[in-house]
Amino acid sequence: MTDPTGSDTRGRTGPPPGCPAHAGAIPLSGLEYQQTPSELYRNMRRDHGAVAPILLDGGIPAWLVLGYAEVSYVTGHDELFARDSRRWNQWENIPQDWPLLPYVGYQPSVLFTEGPEHQRRAGVITQALEGVDQFELAQWSRAIAHGLIDAFAGSGRAELMSAYAHALPMRAAVQMCGMPLGNEDTEELVSDLRITLDAGEGDDPVAAYIRVGERIHRLVKEKRSAPGPDVTSRMLLHPAGLTDEEIVQDLISVIAAAQQPTANWICNTLRLLLTDDRFALNVSGGRLSVGQALNEVLWLDTPTQNFIGRWAVRDTQLGGRQIRAGDCLVLGLAAANTDPQIWPEGHIGAENSAHLSFSNGEHRCPYPAPLLADVIARTAVETLLERLPDVVLAVEPEELTWRPSIWMRGLTSLPARFTPAVR
Ligand code: HEM
Repeated sequence: MTDPTGSDTRGRTGPPPGCPAHAGAIPLSGLEYQQTPSELYRNMRRDHGAVAPILLDGGIPAWLVLGYAEVSYVTGHDELFARDSRRWNQWENIPQDWPLLPYVGYQPSVLFTEGPEHQRRAGVITQALEGVDQFELAQWSRAIAHGLIDAFAGSGRAELMSAYAHALPMRAAVQMCGMPLGNEDTEELVSDLRITLDAGEGDDPVAAYIRVGERIHRLVKEKRSAPGPDVTSRMLLHPAGLTDEEIVQDLISVIAAAQQPTANWICNTLRLLLTDDRFALNVSGGRLSVGQALNEVLWLDTPTQNFIGRWAVRDTQLGGRQIRAGDCLVLGLAAANTDPQIWPEGHIGAENSAHLSFSNGEHRCPYPAPLLADVIARTAVETLLERLPDVVLAVEPEELTWRPSIWMRGLTSLPARFTPAVR
């Protein structure tokens, strides 16, 4: 096994010069990522070891942490690799319209806090999410699923990505936070959240972000005067005494963190079920189950394939590399899950959940969240299969394309057909 801080035991001849911008750094944008990232990560690991020098958009240097042991080490050592991006040593090279700014630009939310302040903020979120009743969440998710399926069931065809997988978790998250579904106000919030997370042509993400902030502000005010059994009210009533501003920031983080990965988890699982003979479409078919498909996706096609990131607190070593104070590290979660060091036989896809898809350590996905995401995703997949038992792909599997993103792993579309159904 590789020593996370020491040299690579697989015979690389030693670290290149300390600065990640050295010759040979790999530009992270490239076609390969869209279709077969696993092969690419394997080649990167072979050529560069467990910590590879990369270039982000615009040639900005960073490190991609590819090894399972190394990702576990980085995420488990906050004192060395921390979350506050203001310590980045590259800020002077970052233009104002840099495409990754929404992910790395410091915001006063739970995502960028550290130490006791992070424990305070994350503790409030964890306790508020703990209060979500899983059976109730399954009921809501089922009702949302039925409503979405009703809209396309009669036509015999649907593009399941936008009409289903992306639409469902957003609504479930908004409902968990205490906004009733079905009214105009909530639908506008759902639409604005979609624009902020995944702007299409003609959308104005900045204006949508401002409207989201205003709506969440109103929600917090409403719940201050009339609390209910929801995440927002539990955050407001928590003894840590977060300010309204802090709660607004963290609610936006919770909804955004819930939406994209859960949507892609649903979609990638539906793809697996519709393209792989090992999975019977009929849930009662006695073959591999929806639960196994959901878990296999987390190992092999995990939604958050790379996560940016962590920033080195001081000069240190990692995977035989010299890391400088303020260097940026991208967590290669998909690469870590398929690391040959943990799968020496080449067979990937354990039935356990020791993958790093929800990350690890202090900033990992707060522990009730993976369970809630599982309830939403499982209900979404099972309800679709129950309602449309003969659903099949409307294109050849090879025609499905992955989104051109190195961050999220998800399809551009998932066209399906089925016998038109009545409600
Ligand atoms: C109900 C659904 C979900 C909720 C409410 C949720 C919430 C959150 C929150 C609040 C954070 C920030 C934690 C912090 O900085 O302290 C986070 C981080 C994260 N979540 Fe989730 N999440 C959900 C689903 C998912 C899913 C489905 C995945 C992937 C399969 C995922 C993967 C992650 C990852 C990789 C991080 C980053 C952790 C890090 O910085 O190391 N989450 N999530």
